[in-house]
Amino acid sequence: MPMTTPKLRAELDGIPTYKPGRPPAAEEGGAPRPAFKLSSNENPYPPLPGVLEAAATAAASFNRYPDLSCAALTAELATRFDVPVGHIATGTGSVGVAQQLLQVTSGPGDEVIYAWRSFEAYPIVTQISGARAVQVPLDAAETHDLDAMAAAVTERTRLIFVCNPNNPTGTVVRRAELERFLDRVPSDVLVVLDEAYREFNTDPEVPDGVDLYRDRPNVAVLRTFSKAYGLAGLRIGFAIAHEPVAEALRKTAVPFGVSQLAQDAAIASLRAEAALLERVEGLVVERARVAGALAAQGWTVPETQANFVWLRLGERTGDFAAACERAGATVRPFAGEGVRITIGEAEANDIVLRTAEAFRKEL
Ligand SMILES: Cc1ncc(COP(=O)(O)O)c(C=O)c1O
Repeated sequence: MPMTTPKLRAELDGIPTYKPGRPPAAEEGGAPRPAFKLSSNENPYPPLPGVLEAAATAAASFNRYPDLSCAALTAELATRFDVPVGHIATGTGSVGVAQQLLQVTSGPGDEVIYAWRSFEAYPIVTQISGARAVQVPLDAAETHDLDAMAAAVTERTRLIFVCNPNNPTGTVVRRAELERFLDRVPSDVLVVLDEAYREFNTDPEVPDGVDLYRDRPNVAVLRTFSKAYGLAGLRIGFAIAHEPVAEALRKTAVPFGVSQLAQDAAIASLRAEAALLERVEGLVVERARVAGALAAQGWTVPETQANFVWLRLGERTGDFAAACERAGATVRPFAGEGVRITIGEAEANDIVLRTAEAFRKEL
């Protein structure tokens, strides 16, 4: 028999690989230098003691499978958001739930619309599904162009992502424009409001997606415990969606995908919300300091409501990222476009500000 390789789906050819934010490089001999990771929009604070304790307790039984239905967490979330238990679907990070949303709505011949640039997982999960990606450029203010996105809807459209605040620009869409957009989208097209950074928003005009979902069966909201709640390494996120979308998500979930550590830590986090949101407030203060200082240095900084800032550096992107890394902080470059800088510890943010100031003088 001639040797052949297993046949894989043609749709997988050319899928961009997800690039994780770079960790700081090891010290190169000489004097020790600070090493901060500002490349993955993580929460710089370590787990709260009570949350760590909940995870450690759960770790003592990891010879057992976790609760398949995440019942205790789901009940807690349903109360917290005042939604039916059946409207919640948990998953391995909200990116896992996003992939399931594609799986349950879209396949070859279908179209998926999202702004670009936006979260880099959207093209990946779209291509895996076999559907065609329709990327609608951000407008001049680095914000979703919702009119253009509505105009891009065809009878083949199955799903639309709206990332609010948007990764990597931090920009937001506000209530009136989002409602107008939702009114224009046909009711058989699923609109996914990805609110991974919702807790960092301080603009009262930015709607809570959960309010918009309530009387719109074609709207689903994605939330995560990875950012404000600081559980990135435990992989847990969830969708709030009407039946039958939530039901379809439960059907397609990887069995036992969400560990008991993640479930118990998420419950402990919800109960420690006041302490966690205090940390978020601290990061928001830092965000204002960083954005203000960059603007004072002469940079154009789009107004951000997330835990990061965006600098459109074009061809200088790689140089800027390399300069930050040499100074002791890794940021996230998008080659030829710009740099996303996570708001971290004050010391880390200061490294970026010093680097940005020196870099600007050389421009
Ligand atoms: C907009 C957006 N959505 C979803 C996610 C996924 O987060 P997780 O899978 O950790 O919940 C991220 C992570 O960077 C993100 O930026």
